[in-house]
Amino acid sequence: MAEATAPPNLASPTTAAPDWWIRPGLDVVEGRLQIAGRDAEHLAREHGTPLYVYDLERFRENARRFQAALATTGIPYRLRFAMKANPDPKVLAAFRALGAPGSPESVGIDACSPGEVTRALECGFLPDEISYTGTNVSNRDLDVILAADGLRLNLDAISQIERVGRRAPGRTIGIRVNPAAGAGYHAGLEYSGERPTKFGIYEDRLDEAADAAARHGLTIDTVHFHAGSGWLEQGLPAFERALEAAARMTRRLMDRGCPIREVNVGGGLGAPGRGSEIPVDLEAYAAVLARHLGPLGVTVACEPGDHLGRDAGLLLAEVVTVEDRGGARFVGLDAGWNVNCGYFIYGFLQEIVPCHDPLADRTWTVGVAGHINEGHDLFAEDYPFPPVAEGDIVAILGTGSYSEAMSSTHCLRPIPPAIHLARRD
Ligand SMILES: Cc1ncc(COP(=O)(O)O)c(C=O)c1O
Repeated sequence: MAEATAPPNLASPTTAAPDWWIRPGLDVVEGRLQIAGRDAEHLAREHGTPLYVYDLERFRENARRFQAALATTGIPYRLRFAMKANPDPKVLAAFRALGAPGSPESVGIDACSPGEVTRALECGFLPDEISYTGTNVSNRDLDVILAADGLRLNLDAISQIERVGRRAPGRTIGIRVNPAAGAGYHAGLEYSGERPTKFGIYEDRLDEAADAAARHGLTIDTVHFHAGSGWLEQGLPAFERALEAAARMTRRLMDRGCPIREVNVGGGLGAPGRGSEIPVDLEAYAAVLARHLGPLGVTVACEPGDHLGRDAGLLLAEVVTVEDRGGARFVGLDAGWNVNCGYFIYGFLQEIVPCHDPLADRTWTVGVAGHINEGHDLFAEDYPFPPVAEGDIVAILGTGSYSEAMSSTHCLRPIPPAIHLARRD
């Protein structure tokens, strides 16, 4: 392996390696990165790069922790996994195994497309464990959705209520409301707020929505909202404002005689990508839920994706270039944004570690770049990094959700293989 040296202008003050990400199942053993009890670099050498690697136990741990927090509310709860984050059948099987249908330990599914409904049914989820919240639902979508008798369907537009009413009069439905307040990793990830968004029914048209449902004999038993994605500790007050509005709308529907039995508060809780990011305290989140939903006597349903999946996976890639350009140093990988789009699309920060020495001091400042011919194909910028050389294997952490799920064959780069590991000591 070539000796890597930094010219003085690119050396940064030595920074201790971040180790905030170490947890059971993702660790440093004898100075090397291990995931689920396996040496990460050995996995890369054996299976090739890029390579998605998942620690299946981590999905389960995250779900159990979430449920434990919900249990502190003292109100009935349901946890559903937002399948869009990672629809792999092995991941879904890990959640399925957590509890028998209907038990408090069980995890259901949040689906948002006919394909996800079909996948959930194939993976053994019962229709009433599946909650569908789509947007711009077509008749073709409804062919699949309505065929799953008992599936919980949340509609997000008055025209959709009319459409379902014509197709399935007498059915029970939920409605997605827009609380006109949002929470997100940044403003672009707020799904509701001052500016009108494409989601949900606003409070000023709530009666119209309820009238449309009544005209078709549809019973509204669920109120749904999703405030936005990726929000961390500081986002909780913003989430609470959205919840408050949704609770007010729920009360209005109840006052009209709608037998609301569930308020689905969506997902959106982020997971830290760097040590400086603090996740929401789940007990504080649960206390907020209890404060606003306890008095309504409803079941609270949560449908996180990122929070349950992000830290359960990583992407292994090989360093193929180390080059200084224009006074900046670039570390180039054999993977591109098409297989890990978190930073490229959403701006989510992520941690990258060399597998042979994850805790090496960080004496360089680099941009970590991918192999797609686009200038923004970057995984990190101005990033303190330890010296690496061509041929080294690095792990991009936090790719358990929305990486493989959103991967594409852009530039005819193939989608990497994935391995799903049962944890061993
Ligand atoms: C309706 C709905 N529920 C749940 C989620 C899952 O979000 P997250 O993975 O951020 O928890 C989304 C994401 O867009 C969503 O739109």
